[in-house]
Amino acid sequence: MLRPSVAQDSGPALHRESRRYMSVAQRQTEGPTIPVPTPRVILVLNGPNLNMLGVRQPEIYGRETLADLEAACRAHAASRGFEVDFRQSNHEGELIGWIQAARSSAAAVVINAAAYTHTSVGILDALSLLEVPVIEVHLSNIHRREAFRHHSYVSLAATGSIVGLGGRGYLLAIDAVAGLLDGK
Ligand code: DQA
Repeated sequence: MLRPSVAQDSGPALHRESRRYMSVAQRQTEGPTIPVPTPRVILVLNGPNLNMLGVRQPEIYGRETLADLEAACRAHAASRGFEVDFRQSNHEGELIGWIQAARSSAAAVVINAAAYTHTSVGILDALSLLEVPVIEVHLSNIHRREAFRHHSYVSLAATGSIVGLGGRGYLLAIDAVAGLLDGK
């Protein structure tokens, strides 16, 4: 039976690059080498109430729905050579679980933690476990709004933050990831 394992040779450029993103299955020790590149995934996380985009305070958050944002992120990421794993949850623990799992599954994380931005040490601690780029996004400019939105726990673990540019902020975050990982 063919068992995948870690490639030993320096290999062609494509394989050298893809080895950085090999899956756990490829790190088994027995059998011949079968280098199968794992697609580079950007985990895009959305916190509470963002499932209501489009109907929720459109004067602040716009008319775009979360599905619109997801489609735009997918297309934009594909043009940069990435896949998007796009998720939303109204539950802090679920978001924390997804962030923890990103340690082995994502090349970068883009996060709009929504209201948890301003309250969640748990999300900060989970993000602090990551060794990949973390880009914080907010549709609105949180610094022009109520004082309780001015502080962000997420910022303490973020590589960078983009606020106030609506859905375009997500696309700029993907550009930032491509720039950080690929020097583009
Ligand atoms: C938000 C800003 C947060 O203060 C708010 O709680 C949200 C959305 C934004 O994208 O502008 O839910 O993260």
